[in-house]
Amino acid sequence: MPPAETSIASDERRSGLRTLRRMGPYLWPSKHLWVKQRVVLAIAVLVLAKLIAVYTPMLYKGAVDSLAAEGVPPLALGAVGLTIAYGMARIFTTGFQQLRDVIFAPVGQRALRHLALETFTHIHRLSMRYHITRKTGGLSRIIERGVKGVEFLLRFMLFSIGPLVLELTLVAIVLTVLFDAWYLAAVVVTIGLYVWFTFAITEWRVKLRREMNKQDTDANQKAIDSLLNYETVKYFGAEKREAERYDGAMRAYAQAALKTAYSLAFLNFGQSLFITAGLVSVMVMAAMGVQNGELTVGDFVMVNAYMIQITVPLNFLGTVYREIRQSLVDMGEMFDLLEQPADVSDASDAKSLKVTGGEIRLKDVRFGYDSDREILKGVDLVAGAGQTVAIVGSTGSGKSTIGRLLFRFYDVTGGALTIDGQDVRQVTQESLHAAIGVVPQDTVLFNDTIRYNIAYGKAGADQAAVEQAARDAQIHDFITSLPEGYDTQVGERGLKLSGGEKQRVGIARTLLKNPPILLLDEATSALDTDTEQEIKDALERAAQGRTVLTIAHRLSTVAEADTIVVLEQGEVVEQGSHDELLAREGRYAHLWHRQQADDQAVA
Ligand SMILES: Nc1ncnc2c1ncn2[C@@H]1O[C@H](COP(=O)(O)OP(=O)(O)O)[C@@H](O)[C@H]1O
Ligand SMILES: [Mg+2]
Repeated sequence: MPPAETSIASDERRSGLRTLRRMGPYLWPSKHLWVKQRVVLAIAVLVLAKLIAVYTPMLYKGAVDSLAAEGVPPLALGAVGLTIAYGMARIFTTGFQQLRDVIFAPVGQRALRHLALETFTHIHRLSMRYHITRKTGGLSRIIERGVKGVEFLLRFMLFSIGPLVLELTLVAIVLTVLFDAWYLAAVVVTIGLYVWFTFAITEWRVKLRREMNKQDTDANQKAIDSLLNYETVKYFGAEKREAERYDGAMRAYAQAALKTAYSLAFLNFGQSLFITAGLVSVMVMAAMGVQNGELTVGDFVMVNAYMIQITVPLNFLGTVYREIRQSLVDMGEMFDLLEQPADVSDASDAKSLKVTGGEIRLKDVRFGYDSDREILKGVDLVAGAGQTVAIVGSTGSGKSTIGRLLFRFYDVTGGALTIDGQDVRQVTQESLHAAIGVVPQDTVLFNDTIRYNIAYGKAGADQAAVEQAARDAQIHDFITSLPEGYDTQVGERGLKLSGGEKQRVGIARTLLKNPPILLLDEATSALDTDTEQEIKDALERAAQGRTVLTIAHRLSTVAEADTIVVLEQGEVVEQGSHDELLAREGRYAHLWHRQQADDQAVA
């Protein structure tokens, strides 16, 4: 076996153990008595159901014996009475089985809910680094599949495999006690061979199925890609080529599907062969016993009933085995996610950030997303309380990175970043995030109403507060001009609003939050010059009484800042007021003149 296969197999075994370890506390929580009571009760009812199930064939035997006038009936009921008792026993078995499900259902649902919540909360806690490299759709599928896997495993481990093992054990005991060890041996060999065969063939079929799914996806992708490129196909007269390519993919799928179907036939036939061989050998033993006069006709019938009874659940074993394997893989992915450590976490002695004026200070800050490429190479920067500091510089120079470090999406690798003298790594993320309002270049909205999106800025904000924020962001009049006003749906990611409207909703949301520190990251870059001018007023009003860090591309929007910092390739190359920097005739002056010339050329 190649090494990769071995490691996957051992991973799965480990994830199986890990699953049990992780699920345990949910099924047996130390604090919730009712959960434990239900688990115990469900198991008790389960055992009861199985005891009755194993007793049932004895009633059947009694009825047969009393008809054949042989043996001693188990109850003094007569053939009709025993037949009715047999029917009652069957009803009780089913009844208790259902009762067990009813008793256990709340425990299972509770475990699922807690696990899903734990995963969801954890994903929000994970670092930006993780989220950037993972697709959100993929994450939610991992939760969904993982939770489904847990549900399946709970149902089948506890209520399919567990009872099956219990029943087999009981039947084995009955056969040994009532007959002799040969019967036990026959049953054990039959089941052993059956289980071995089922697992081995299922293992092989899992591979076939995977191949089939792969071919299916492949054929699908080829078809979709070709249809999407409808025009290109026509331009190059490639219809025939496309059809051949599609047919090729479909042929591979058909072959894989056939193999899967054949293997199922083989599995079913093989299972039937083992079961029948076992059944017949046990019945031959019983028939010989009856001929010798050691056993009654009732015994012969009872042996048959037991064998049939234990083979019914065995029939599902292949499916159950396959599903359990899949569940373990799915749950493994979910638990991997849960065990993914958060890059950025609160220090154990983290305090709440106390903002007195909102002074931001960067001291020799060094940082790189990857260790082999430093993005910030020792940045020093001070934004005094209530000041507006602009960071300018070409794309990729590290401007947004400074904002991310301030918000502590990442931790600096050297130097320090402080707010009113407190290192951001020493305060709780919750208090840090509460103190900083961010307006990004592209505000993304929730697919809900405008009211919901503005009110998101502050939990429990009322209509008056929402409207005030909208007025300050100069969007109130626009909103009331819409037919549905504040109840207008903004569409997915806010696509039904124009860029400028969306930005103003974003500003209103941040104003409602009312943070002492404001971070504007190219807040107006995506807008045309007229819209930019309108929003500038809203932003200037927002800046009053706050410390503002504004990142900008177009220098005309930051000329009034108290300090302008020019960042190039992760280093501060110049800083000062607009006039000072112009007088220096350095990098800033150069950029400024070029942009002025561009603007005039456009005008
Ligand atoms: N998540 C990331 N992983 C690796 N490199 C990144 C990541 N984000 C940004 N970078 C790199 O860091 C540099 C600075 O990025 P950024 O601060 O966004 O620049 P800007 O000044 O344009 O805002 C860029 O070269 C960019 O490629
Ligand atoms: Mg940027």
